[in-house]
Amino acid sequence: MTDRELMSMAKAASMNAYVPYSRFAVGAALECDDGTVFTGCNIENAALGDTICAERTACVKAVSEGRLRFRRIAIYADSENWCTPCGSCRQFLAEFSPEMEVLCAKAGDRYVSYKLSELLPHTFNY
Ligand code: THU
Repeated sequence: MTDRELMSMAKAASMNAYVPYSRFAVGAALECDDGTVFTGCNIENAALGDTICAERTACVKAVSEGRLRFRRIAIYADSENWCTPCGSCRQFLAEFSPEMEVLCAKAGDRYVSYKLSELLPHTFNY
């Protein structure tokens, strides 16, 4: 699968975002090392701190289906700035694959690519 195909899955997933509070819809598409893709969207809650980001939704779907190693994640938001993962999502993904690739989009067709270890050096682990 190409980066662009993965990103279009992320964009499609953003359509399911439940965002009555922020109105900021995010979609993610997580490619596992066996090629399986799990998508996710952000799901907000009236108790705002209980909100789950799109990246973590995709990750919990993958892990709960027995996938523990990831190659790439594409993240899409129809936003002005690149939609890079929040700190909690960086740590959450790094638990499984600190060297995975992170593709971050914004409104339009362009995206930027990072290694997760670049976005979160010195990940906490023990
Ligand atoms: N959000 C994500 O889903 N992923 C990110 O990478 C950044 C933020 C969500 C959380 C919340 O629902 C909304 O975007 C605004 O912060």
